[in-house]
Amino acid sequence: MLVRQASPMTDLETQLTRRRLLELGLVLPPLAVIAGRTDLFSSPALAATPAVLDADDDPTPELTEGPYFTPNSPKRKSILPSGAVGTRLTLTGRVLTTGGKPIPNALIDFWQADARGAYDNSGYRFRGHQFTNAKGQYSLLTVVPGLYPGRTRHIHVKVQAPHEPVLTTQLFFPGVARNGSDGIYTSECLVKRWRLVQDRRAAAFDFVLDV
Ligand SMILES: [Fe+2]
Repeated sequence: MLVRQASPMTDLETQLTRRRLLELGLVLPPLAVIAGRTDLFSSPALAATPAVLDADDDPTPELTEGPYFTPNSPKRKSILPSGAVGTRLTLTGRVLTTGGKPIPNALIDFWQADARGAYDNSGYRFRGHQFTNAKGQYSLLTVVPGLYPGRTRHIHVKVQAPHEPVLTTQLFFPGVARNGSDGIYTSECLVKRWRLVQDRRAAAFDFVLDV
């Protein structure tokens, strides 16, 4: 009688079998998880917030015009100047590690254009910094930033965990037509939970630092 011996599976076959089992939800967790590494479930790795840079962020001293970052902004949670026009915006969120742990006392420095798209380059209108609380939380009161030539709506941010490098990035808003034509825009930095509360806007964003 002819007996056919099973041939060993190739790497490709092994991968395909694993993929099929994954599709069926039949792949068991790794032994490390079974052995008690429940942190792998409770603290999934988060994608670090990407840096987003443009000419606005370059404090090149030769350039005298343009909406640049200004150091030494006031410490405050509201960067809304008195009498400012525009739709009020409350932005809240946390600063987290890629492991999902909140980072207390992280520095967050915000700066943005006003509702008409103009920056204050001689003072500190719509500029301010703050530190996250013990739970890694922050909150910002401002207005929805205006458009200016070549750019979609955005808020500039520098975020720094204590004794760690500075992340310079920008936040963007859903539903802005110019998002599609702004080469600096990235959906990774879209604010979340964008909603209208009466005549105000609210949004959330968690910064994830690779620390
Ligand atoms: Fe800008």
